[in-house]
Amino acid sequence: MGGDSSSGTNTDAPKRASSRARHVAIIMDGNGRWAKKRALPRAIGHQRGVEAVRRLVRGLEPMELDCLTLYAFSSENWKRSETEVDDLMNLMRKFIKSDLPDFVANDVQLNIIGDWRSLAPDIVEMLEDALEQTANGTRKLAVALNYGGQNEIARAAMKAAEQGSITTQSIADNLDTAGLPPLDLLIRTSGEIRLSNFLLWQAAYAEMLFVDTLWPDFKPEHLERALDDFAQRERRYGGR
Ligand code: IPE
Ligand code: IPE
Ligand code: MG
Repeated sequence: MGGDSSSGTNTDAPKRASSRARHVAIIMDGNGRWAKKRALPRAIGHQRGVEAVRRLVRGLEPMELDCLTLYAFSSENWKRSETEVDDLMNLMRKFIKSDLPDFVANDVQLNIIGDWRSLAPDIVEMLEDALEQTANGTRKLAVALNYGGQNEIARAAMKAAEQGSITTQSIADNLDTAGLPPLDLLIRTSGEIRLSNFLLWQAAYAEMLFVDTLWPDFKPEHLERALDDFAQRERRYGGR
């Protein structure tokens, strides 16, 4: 192709500082506290959380990510009150209905990670339809639904064993995230500093950022700032 090898775009050097993040994941936490601060029901906090998701997905294009992964419902969130779980499931139904055309129009490819097939049958059906309609999109949006990292690893190990070998590669190949790029940056909002069973395997060498912003207040500018912060970091992967 006659390319100039000294052009400075060295794709073999992803470890250097100032490389751009391709895959960012967010633990969207703090909806309940956002509502509590305003003496509003938790459900309103979750509604505003959905609006923050919509705002972020719409503002994503200039950031040139290959993949954004959002933790929407954990396998432990079933422990919440029946009313809260119902509210969350209904918001999910509403969100898919209202935003699917937007995804299709904006070249978003929906991916779902977690044990989502055991959600309510009507939600599973809506999700299957959404996956099909967005399959040709080039900008990946992965949503973690009924997701638990330990369960994901156990399921992947089981499949790897059925295929005849348990190695780090064969487990990775069977994770729900197998089709997604490697995780670069994991962000958690609301000031909590823990993973809460999110992307345990994938976070092995991801950079982490914990911000105090409550999820409903999170704006595309916050992600832009996080990407700038990421670009300053030096990733070493154990080597020097
Ligand atoms: C995150 O907000 C949304 C979900 C876990 C579904 P929370 O509901 O956990 O909000 P806090 O942590 O109670 O503030
Ligand atoms: C993690 O937040 C799950 C999601 C954001 C979907 P939680 O609020 O459920 O986590 P804990 O209970 O504070 O660890
Ligand atoms: Mg929380």
